[in-house]
Amino acid sequence: MIQKPKGTYDVFGDYGKKVLYLEMLFQSLIEKYNYEFLRTPIFEATELFHRGVGETTDIVSKETYDFLDRGERKMTLRPEGTAGIVRSFIENKMYGNPSMPVKTWYYGPMFRYERPQAGRYREFYQLGVEVFGTDDPLMDAEVISIAVNFYKLLGLKDVKVRINSLGDSESRSNYREALLAYFKPHLDKLCSDCNERYGKNPLRILDCKVDHDLDIMKNAPKMSDYLSNESINHFEQVKDYLDANGISYIVDDTLVRGLDYYTNTVFEVEADIPGFGANSVLCAGGRYNHLVENIGGPSTPGVGFALGMERLINVLEASNISLNIENGIDLYVIPMNEIVKSYAFDVTNKLRMSGFKVELDYMNRNLKSNFKQADRLSTKFVAIIGEDEMANDYITIKNNITKEEDKIDTAYLVNYLDEKIGQEDYHEECTCGDDCNCDGSHNHDCGCNHH
Ligand code: HAM
Repeated sequence: MIQKPKGTYDVFGDYGKKVLYLEMLFQSLIEKYNYEFLRTPIFEATELFHRGVGETTDIVSKETYDFLDRGERKMTLRPEGTAGIVRSFIENKMYGNPSMPVKTWYYGPMFRYERPQAGRYREFYQLGVEVFGTDDPLMDAEVISIAVNFYKLLGLKDVKVRINSLGDSESRSNYREALLAYFKPHLDKLCSDCNERYGKNPLRILDCKVDHDLDIMKNAPKMSDYLSNESINHFEQVKDYLDANGISYIVDDTLVRGLDYYTNTVFEVEADIPGFGANSVLCAGGRYNHLVENIGGPSTPGVGFALGMERLINVLEASNISLNIENGIDLYVIPMNEIVKSYAFDVTNKLRMSGFKVELDYMNRNLKSNFKQADRLSTKFVAIIGEDEMANDYITIKNNITKEEDKIDTAYLVNYLDEKIGQEDYHEECTCGDDCNCDGSHNHDCGCNHH
């Protein structure tokens, strides 16, 4: 049997419901922040990622899916979203937009040829944001707040924000010199990749997965000692804005990130759950003030993040957080025989168009197994349609919970269901655990963590 490629997975059933729910929740949050959706191609010219993400990064040097198209062009399945969004920002001349900043969000699959393990896939989905046109530390804080508020909305309490500053160009060139001087006498202890990184981009040595635990790594110079006054100032302001927003964070001066484009602020949001290991990083991002220029656009500052969908679902499951997903249907329609089937089909579709979630028997079950099916579908009501109903334009409708039965004129069916389903009995209880006494529906704001 042909199987799915290693490191990929199929989405269906409850997992699919969770994915759709989380996408929708993110979209409704990000719209409140006034971000616009931007979708870019899944493959781009290989050169984009070399210039954007950085040639010496693991992502580009070891993990990309590269191919030649039929016109012999070098193409790459995108390993991340930022480079493509920046390309689109330049190509569509969004820098000419008078209402800066340009605030965008995206969602889609990314591809990295990594060793598959829990929380690490070869095809995975990221939800992300990228903002262009402002270097104001307030925007760094806004971007971090989106991620934090998204996890908060979900009721995820055990998350930790780690932040660091990688400095501006001046800070980085001073730091680069310090790293070159520091690592020079230790080159024989470093892996061959790090020896290559030494010549090209010594900062990448600090992100090496092989040499990570060596003592020389722990004692390496810290970026924080080489920050320019401007970078210190920027970082202080980001922290002040986070403080003012009640967003707690840990300053981690070992945080360097695995992509080359960052300047000043970098951050990661981590699940604080024992045993989650390296895959506990749920979301990561930072500022990239030279990326637009490096990819060929006019000098424009940028900042953003991406969060992994799979890791989020893993951590929600590990934290026993159930999502407020509506299961079940409003009505299950049982046509009693062949003669009434097309009438039942018409009634079903009209109710669907009136906003009800309705299922019909397509299997020609007998009445008993139809009621079993109705229970499996967790329906609120069952409609029985026989020849008498069809001839006299009424529906026999049974409440599947109380088992009460009514005969309703077809013309009043929508009103009847509206009234009955609007009653509180049919709402799920809120699972936020905040004792908020709300009915768990999404369309109101009682102030609990669930809405
Ligand atoms: P990244 O740290 O490479 O950053 O990835 C961001 C998030 O994507 C990670 O924190 C993780 O949740 C998820 N992720 C990464 N690799 C995998 C994988 N193999 N399997 C499952 N999930 C994964 C970026 O991609 C940057 N573009 C973020 C950014 C946006 N920076 C500025 N703007």
